[in-house]
Amino acid sequence: MRKSIIGGNWKMNMRASSAKELASALRPLGSGDCEVVLFPPFVYLKDVADAVRGSGVHVGGQNCHSEPDGAFTGEISAEMLKDSGADYVLLGHSERRAYHDGWGESSSWINAKLTHALGVGLKAILCVGETIAEREAGRTNDVLGGQLRQSLAGISAERTIDVVIAYEPVWAIGTGKTATPQMAEGAHAFIRGVIGRMWDEGIAQQMRIQYGGSVKASNARELLSQTDIDGALVGGASLSADEFAAIVKAAK
Ligand code: 13P
Repeated sequence: MRKSIIGGNWKMNMRASSAKELASALRPLGSGDCEVVLFPPFVYLKDVADAVRGSGVHVGGQNCHSEPDGAFTGEISAEMLKDSGADYVLLGHSERRAYHDGWGESSSWINAKLTHALGVGLKAILCVGETIAEREAGRTNDVLGGQLRQSLAGISAERTIDVVIAYEPVWAIGTGKTATPQMAEGAHAFIRGVIGRMWDEGIAQQMRIQYGGSVKASNARELLSQTDIDGALVGGASLSADEFAAIVKAAK
């Protein structure tokens, strides 16, 4: 039985006081059956880690570099995240794959980050997802398969226990358009099949796959009741304590 996992990706939101307030309000969520991970902006990571310490709620970074130290202005290493109280790192979010003209993150760089982060002892949530143009061209499975194979290349079977996949269709992020539960389940089952072919069926059955894209309290239960949906990665709705708590409650 896979343990459900709900992530709150705060993206570039909050200030120190509101971050601490929200994290404190979410402390009770750490004592349930579902794993809860908060991804605040880097500058508030330590404050949030302090606010949830001892509650069972985990904290993660929204990204990290593939090197431990060096002349990489503006970057943060996996070692720094760990040092600041993070257990998790979010990697390959579509906003990082797509934005930043000219240097959108490639799956090969994401693979280097993932390999390094796991080596440091962080757990990782790896995001994959297709754009609307790719879905309409019937390329969803090709895109997901390619992102998974490249991003996960060379990860040993033993380390896969520390990897969670987040399926986030790009067209559903922040748009209010959620994939139907059937559409999401189809993609999750496909992803589990790819994992099975990359390693084996045992690892495929053990790996947790979250859905992300306009998840709210009102649609969480139906999405989370699908066989291959093991949790949610929540953006906008994770900024409200009541809304996020209701999503966690809906997790199986
Ligand atoms: P929204 O829930 O705001 O659509 O964001 C999803 C997301 O990108 C989580 O990583």
